[in-house]
Amino acid sequence: MYCGGVLQNCMSRIDEIEKEVFDRIEQTASVDDLEQISVEYLGRKGFLTGALRDISSLPKEDRPVEGQKANALKIKIKAVIEEKTARLQQICGTDSFGIDVTLPGRKISCGSLHPITQVAKEISDIFLRLGFDIAESPEVETDYYNFEALNIPKYHPARDMQDTFYVSENIVLRTHTSPSQPRVMEKTQPPVRIISPGKVFRCDSDITHTPMFHQVEGLMVDKNISFGDLKGILTTFIHQFFDKETSLRFRPSFFPFTEPSAEVDIRCVMCKGKGCRICSKTGWLEVLGSGMVHPAVFENVGYDTDTYTGFAFGMGIERLAMLKYGIDDIRKFFENDIRFLGQF
Ligand code: PHE
Repeated sequence: MYCGGVLQNCMSRIDEIEKEVFDRIEQTASVDDLEQISVEYLGRKGFLTGALRDISSLPKEDRPVEGQKANALKIKIKAVIEEKTARLQQICGTDSFGIDVTLPGRKISCGSLHPITQVAKEISDIFLRLGFDIAESPEVETDYYNFEALNIPKYHPARDMQDTFYVSENIVLRTHTSPSQPRVMEKTQPPVRIISPGKVFRCDSDITHTPMFHQVEGLMVDKNISFGDLKGILTTFIHQFFDKETSLRFRPSFFPFTEPSAEVDIRCVMCKGKGCRICSKTGWLEVLGSGMVHPAVFENVGYDTDTYTGFAFGMGIERLAMLKYGIDDIRKFFENDIRFLGQF
């Protein structure tokens, strides 16, 4: 039988391919390498494809045998590569759709309550546990409830401190939550025990003031309510909101709607009283205004001043939040920077 160069070449090439290709498949441990091997041998310009093409130059009688051998090898290489690819993908956790089932799931980003809302809720929860109810009161208020009913007549110098936004001559954006006091008392007979959180507005803006901020008002009226009750409730509140170690002091002050009036200071939460930048070296921080309800306010709502006494207080939510979390610029609350808000 003629055994020319082409035939010998072609036959030995198929054998050689058979010998080496399975070794290479055996040794590889990567899906990409298997793909590469597939291209090298079975691709359009691959070794086996070339060898198959050369069969046409063999003597007619040898073609079927060699052709079958090459085709069988082709099928076998394909099957072995496929099987190993599947095995590797399983080990690496990649299924046939290219999904890596071992990857951690994609986190669904979830919103959270604004820090001011969180602190307002925390303050409210403390007073709810002390038996207070929550009363709502309008943000756009009449001059009467914002000032007159609270013993601040027109042209009273105390109006000056309030930097009021006037909507019209008799309508204002409330400058404090105190209008909730006469509004609640007009509708309810004592005993009254409410807090009223919400937005207030003053024409003022710097690192400790924003034109809109939040306050929580408190009011307790009954027979025999004394300054001692005021001190007890506020001390309990401060101890729960900050911690039991936080000492506080009541400093005489003036508000037209309370008499006597007191501002409450707490020991500086930053320096614990040593004196620092936050407390302007005094060791104390002012946190709220308070006092015994002025008889003039009771008269405005028709309460009998011989029978009833009460106390009221008002605190700034931003201020309490800043002290609790060590925030030095109030404007951060309203810039809506997700990197800041996401920390709460
Ligand atoms: N309304 C006062 C303020 O905004 C705070 C206050 C409330 C004081 C109730 C006394 C009683 O400063």
